[in-house]
Amino acid sequence: MTATQEQATAAASGANATERFKTDKLGALADTPPERVSLLAREVLEAVHSTIRRHKVTYDEYNALKAWLIQVGEDGEWPLFLDVWVEHVVEEVATEHRQGNKGTIEGPYYVPNAPERGSHGAVPMRADEPGTPLTWSGQVRSTDGSVLAGATVELWHADAEGFYSQFAPGLPEWNLRGTFTTDAEGRFEIRTIRPAPYQIPTDGACGKLIAAAGWHAWRPAHLHVKVSAPGHELLTAQLYFPGDEHNDDDIASAVKPELVLAPQPAPDGHGDVVEYDFVLDPERA
Ligand code: DHB
Ligand code: FE
Repeated sequence: MTATQEQATAAASGANATERFKTDKLGALADTPPERVSLLAREVLEAVHSTIRRHKVTYDEYNALKAWLIQVGEDGEWPLFLDVWVEHVVEEVATEHRQGNKGTIEGPYYVPNAPERGSHGAVPMRADEPGTPLTWSGQVRSTDGSVLAGATVELWHADAEGFYSQFAPGLPEWNLRGTFTTDAEGRFEIRTIRPAPYQIPTDGACGKLIAAAGWHAWRPAHLHVKVSAPGHELLTAQLYFPGDEHNDDDIASAVKPELVLAPQPAPDGHGDVVEYDFVLDPERA
């Protein structure tokens, strides 16, 4: 095991994800009207009640659930739990009107304001960063076909061992996190490495659920992106690699066929090259 693997614990990445969420998202929440809160809370509780009746849930099972819910909070794993098992449906509903690019879940490990690298450049990485080099070129357009110059492409992903900087210890702060801006033709070119498949932390409450249910903890290898341009809806997506054994059974249910890349060996023999473009939807009036 590497130093990162030895030190990376669910408690650490869970607590970091919880703090990140509180810092970045909580201040910006709109108030939900009481009628809406009442409707949603009632329907969720009714779904729980009907599951209990249908399966005759026992007191032992009820208390096991109570203990587990307490542990999710103590481990700081609510962001992980929700992003793995719930967010994909919220994303589906939020983007069903779109004509442009398919998106998918954000997950718990986005950090804003990653270092800027212009239109063509490498993400911040270690001098000896392990992993197959990947050069990704693309273009950002609007749904009417017009080219979007000055669009922002934020990229973040795990390293070749499946670890995210700022959530697993021992990695440089901005490792494999960068912000790119499209050129006059809406184009960008990003040099990075291919990430490894990612196992959600198994030593905390979410891991306990996975083990108790006999599930697996894997997400396929993926690149995370946020693509934005003035007057357009923000696109949050992930890009996957063909042939990954977990593309068909992603624990976070976030893979869509439109998001699978088609990398080719680089002509210069240096890793892989891939092209992938984005089409953004104009903001709705
Ligand atoms: C989780 C991790 C990810 O990298 C991701 O994309 C989605 C979810 C998680 O650990 O919950
Ligand atoms: Fe991820």
